[in-house]
Amino acid sequence: MKILTIVGARPQFVKAAALSRALKKHDSIKEIIVHTGQHFDKNMSDIFFKEMEIPKPKYNLNINSISHGAMTGRMLEKIEELIIIEKPALILVYGDTNSTLAGALAAKKLHVKVAHIEAGLRSFNIKMPEEINRILTDRISDYLFCPTENAITNLTNEGYSYEEFKIIKCGDVMQDAAYYYAKTSSEKSTIISRLKVSEFILCTLHRAENTDDPNRLKGIIYALNKINKQTPIILPIHPRTKKKISDLNIELNFKTIDPVGYFDMIELLKKCSLVITDSGGLQKEAYFFKKNCVTMRDQTEWVELLENNVNILVGANEDQIINGVNEMLSRENDFNLNLYGNGNACKIIAENLNNYNL
Ligand code: UD1
Repeated sequence: MKILTIVGARPQFVKAAALSRALKKHDSIKEIIVHTGQHFDKNMSDIFFKEMEIPKPKYNLNINSISHGAMTGRMLEKIEELIIIEKPALILVYGDTNSTLAGALAAKKLHVKVAHIEAGLRSFNIKMPEEINRILTDRISDYLFCPTENAITNLTNEGYSYEEFKIIKCGDVMQDAAYYYAKTSSEKSTIISRLKVSEFILCTLHRAENTDDPNRLKGIIYALNKINKQTPIILPIHPRTKKKISDLNIELNFKTIDPVGYFDMIELLKKCSLVITDSGGLQKEAYFFKKNCVTMRDQTEWVELLENNVNILVGANEDQIINGVNEMLSRENDFNLNLYGNGNACKIIAENLNNYNL
């Protein structure tokens, strides 16, 4: 069975690394990786393929740095061509990016089956491009692999039935990746000694809802400037965020670092005191490495983290962010709750795909 896997953005590389390894264990499955090119900088893309030994993409579409409509449209056109050439039995898409939607839509229109990994997640904020992408992708997917019970509930509430769709709770593929690569990250990464830090807060910031709204971006940067005076902040900065801060002339009072690879990220997660982020993936990764998280958003898809007090939402308000950080720096939490499965999500997905008679 030929599977065409579509990846384009950083977290998808991490997920594909874990799942590709599980798919390889099945002789009947032949996976072909397509990189849409959405993320293209060396340290946003190549480093993941190298470090994590992800199979080299057979195709790189090089589509990036254009508007959402143009990006999704061009990806749709190119992926359609590839489906016609490769004739896969299934398209595999991850998460909620423009690459996800383009892959699913191209396949469905050609009557090729679609498997969506990380199905059923909702932020209930339809203004987010990611929310639009995930709702539409779920609707046209045949196999919905859900990471959590909440994801299944969301689908059920939207009227998804087990007769029409294959809905499978498998746990979180990012957890599989985190635990697998954490075994060797300390040998592969030198970031902690290079940065010469002992106590620090790890921060990431890239969501359009924050970077593209000057008031939100200012609120966040002013808060980070103040927090950094008490506890140093390590901020691997996304190119989008760097550009917006510079365009708006916002004063950032501490040095940022370039985006880091996965081994460096794991070491930062292991050693930090706290995570502040607006990323979806990093909220979970904080939990995998037993760290509290302060989320600079108004909603999160990972509600079980809120329910278990390991994460709080603080939006983009300066005071709220500072108060949230102070609270979470001192909050003791239980991180052994198994919120994201047993670390065998990839095995479950690969076995299910292998068993389907496609
Ligand atoms: C995308 C996803 C988001 C995901 C994130 C992971 C969508 C709608 N958003 O957001 O869900 O959490 O990836 O990181 O698909 N850029 C570079 N170099 C790069 C990559 C991007 O300079 O390697 C620039 C682009 O030119 C663009 C901006 O950063 O101007 C934003 O990139 P884009 O791919 O649109 O979205 P992300 O913010 O990365």
